[in-house]
Amino acid sequence: MQTICSHSLLQQQVELWHQQGLTISFVPTMGNLHDGHLSLISKARKQADKVIVSIFVNPLQFDDQADLSAYPRTLEVDVQKLSLTACDVLFVPSAETMYPAGMANQSKVMVPMIGDRLCGQSRPGHFDGVATVVTKLFNMVMPDSAVFGEKDYQQLLLIKKLVQDLNMPIEIISAETHREQDGLAMSSRNQYLTETERKSAGEIYRTLQTIKQRLLQGEQNFDLLCQQAKQKLKGIGFNPDYIEICRESDLVPANHEDKALRVFIAAQLGKARLIDNIACYLA
Ligand code: PAJ
Repeated sequence: MQTICSHSLLQQQVELWHQQGLTISFVPTMGNLHDGHLSLISKARKQADKVIVSIFVNPLQFDDQADLSAYPRTLEVDVQKLSLTACDVLFVPSAETMYPAGMANQSKVMVPMIGDRLCGQSRPGHFDGVATVVTKLFNMVMPDSAVFGEKDYQQLLLIKKLVQDLNMPIEIISAETHREQDGLAMSSRNQYLTETERKSAGEIYRTLQTIKQRLLQGEQNFDLLCQQAKQKLKGIGFNPDYIEICRESDLVPANHEDKALRVFIAAQLGKARLIDNIACYLA
């Protein structure tokens, strides 16, 4: 595996592969890699001849400076993990490479509707930062496909809309959420949890499953389901941000005619903001 930091060296490598008729699949990350990230790389490998992974903790998508400073940066360990995977090139741009004119002067990409809901409401500017950095990375890496996790389902839909709206010739591939044994979705933020908090954290997934079961049993009062779930999480120390039952295709609040649903939870537990979601298909 080759590690590249400069845009021009990346371009040379990508042009060479294109000349050789090789396809490229891309996995953008912010590093601190866990098995969820690594599963995306395996999926990318099946799609293309070459796999490029990026690690860039993107300041533009953090609405909170303290959150950005605290974000775990573990490049050495990440490189070791990646060297055991199918990754051909690791791209690690600096903030100067990504935003040479500074962030305030950076042109932005904004994806309406999908970007305005759920996490878009709680974290103003977050999805503009994601859409902007992903657009820039796509233009630098020029991949045939890119893999994103369902763990961040709203982000996945946002990127799908972005490539469609802006006519980018890139196939967006989704990968299932990787979970710990108790169901907690793997996340770089899980390490902010204390031992006691970690024991309760699996409750997010259990709550999603309970809501799903009640929906499958025919419960029609979505508000009541979400309210009850919020109360339960509050009772065991979470500070829920939102619990919502949405239409899977566009994330608007579901109504009783919708069959393909997704249930979303975002909740603070100690220092960690945990998000998760689950699909629910009604007959
Ligand atoms: P990051 O949080 O590092 O996640 C990188 C990719 O890994 C995303 O597609 C995310 O959905 C996926 N992922 C994270 N946890 C996962 C899990 N438990 N199972 C499966 N996939 C998982 O998401 C970002 O970085 C950034 O917003 C980025 C897209 C890189 C733009 O900066």
